[in-house]
Amino acid sequence: MNAKQIAAERAVDYVKDGMIVGLGTGSTAYFAIQKIGSLVKQGMKIKAIASSQASDDLARQLGIPLLEPGNEQQIDVSIDGADEVDTNGNLIKGGGGALLREKILATNSKKFFVVVDESKLVTKLGKFKLPVEIIKFGSVLTLAKLEALGGKPVVRQKDGKDFNTDNGNLIADCSFYPIEDPKALHEQLKQLTGVVETGIFPTEVVTAVIAAYASGETKQF
Ligand code: A5P
Repeated sequence: MNAKQIAAERAVDYVKDGMIVGLGTGSTAYFAIQKIGSLVKQGMKIKAIASSQASDDLARQLGIPLLEPGNEQQIDVSIDGADEVDTNGNLIKGGGGALLREKILATNSKKFFVVVDESKLVTKLGKFKLPVEIIKFGSVLTLAKLEALGGKPVVRQKDGKDFNTDNGNLIADCSFYPIEDPKALHEQLKQLTGVVETGIFPTEVVTAVIAAYASGETKQF
């Protein structure tokens, strides 16, 4: 079992019969979704809400019953990967472009577990370019504001075209390394009109980070 799988499956231990689970996105969340699929097959009554079309498709293939987010459905546990985790448990997410829906699930869950292999653990955030979701309308103006803050934004590309999020927006990948105060930077960026969300998930959102090492050991903090 590789480290991503070990971390993901450890987090699924927190999923119990009758729960509503938020499904993350990416190659680590993939293992959590697979494991949840096997629990459903064994008869556990789990329902899920997916943070991306990709995770929605995977959950459907595995027979996991899916819901839309709604007031009457409090998410019990969300499990998701991250691109970087600092020593205080602040995250950068959005490498897969799903940061907005991921944050909606994470901030509306009773518990949010972050699952990573050791390669994601850093002292300070920002070597991984910070994904910032921006709307297309006036994007040149929003990019200029990100540039003025020193973010050197680059519009993410896929197959030779601008990458579109599941919400029809763009991603500006920004360089702010080293990010000394993740929450302050997030708040500064969120104030820019045209910015929808940033990939900074402050530590207060996180219940626990489960990090797994190639040796098979795990660390939870
Ligand atoms: C998706 O938008 C991201 O936030 C992912 O959760 C993050 O990129 C981690 O993905 P991996 O588990 O594939 O590294």
